[in-house]
Amino acid sequence: EFHKEHKELHLASDGPFGKFDNQQLQRGFQVYSEVCSACHSLKLVSFRDLKHIGYNDAEIKKIASDWKTQVPSINPETGEPAGRKALSSDTFPSPFANEVAARAANNNALPPDLSLITKAREGGAAYVYSLLTGYANQAGYKNEKGEELLKAFPDAKTPPNLHFNPYFANLNIAMPPPLTSEGQVSYEDGTKPTVDQMAKDVSAFLVWTAEPNLASRHAAGLAVAIFLLFGAILGYLAYQNLWHEAK
Ligand code: HEM
Repeated sequence: EFHKEHKELHLASDGPFGKFDNQQLQRGFQVYSEVCSACHSLKLVSFRDLKHIGYNDAEIKKIASDWKTQVPSINPETGEPAGRKALSSDTFPSPFANEVAARAANNNALPPDLSLITKAREGGAAYVYSLLTGYANQAGYKNEKGEELLKAFPDAKTPPNLHFNPYFANLNIAMPPPLTSEGQVSYEDGTKPTVDQMAKDVSAFLVWTAEPNLASRHAAGLAVAIFLLFGAILGYLAYQNLWHEAK
């Protein structure tokens, strides 16, 4: 077995009482917008959803109108396909006109929409984090048991234009390492933008895109648990009260 299980990742949103850390989500959004959005869309997230992670209307309007990728539309005069600037109500568009164009630009692989990726893959955010930080040199790569991949499977040599990554299910991924150097984005909150930090932040952001209402679900669960506990205690006291003479 040469495929690696994901690394550990701890996020503020973990566990039954987890809440989002908006500072981290904003840093993660910055990584998405400056790096990942060159290839990946977020078709289930609209610009105005950014309000929930702490951006105000004016900021959102500006983010949408500055967006590099145009939103596909139809020219009302000619009926021809056209593009227009994004609006706050649009979702994060794909940078490619269609699947053929996307594959043509990516060695025939298709960059998936990332809206639900942390739900779609085993390990969720920890998998995304591992994938982003897990690119390795295939030559001499050994698994945990010390077995060398190319000794066991000489034909497993990474094909040209693919990249070896032991966290990816088939070990060779079409995505080139997207996060390669410290300072690739500059954070405004003073956090040091190491590769590890950027990978963590964008993974945290992709937990939010997949489940923006996680915090209110956790809060509702807690309220329901307290309510049920209260009911159970009341029930027990009523039972004792009713039957205390019947021994
Ligand atoms: C696949 C995340 C940047 C091209 C993926 C996958 C994830 C991901 C989670 C799915 C892997 C799987 O199927 O399990 C990210 C993140 C990025 C980023 C978080 C920014 C930090 C990019 C960029 C490009 C790109 C800039 C293009 C240059 C692709 C392609 C695939 C892919 C082509 C499909 C790979 C395959 O099926 O072999 N990415 N990506 N990604 N990504 Fe990215």
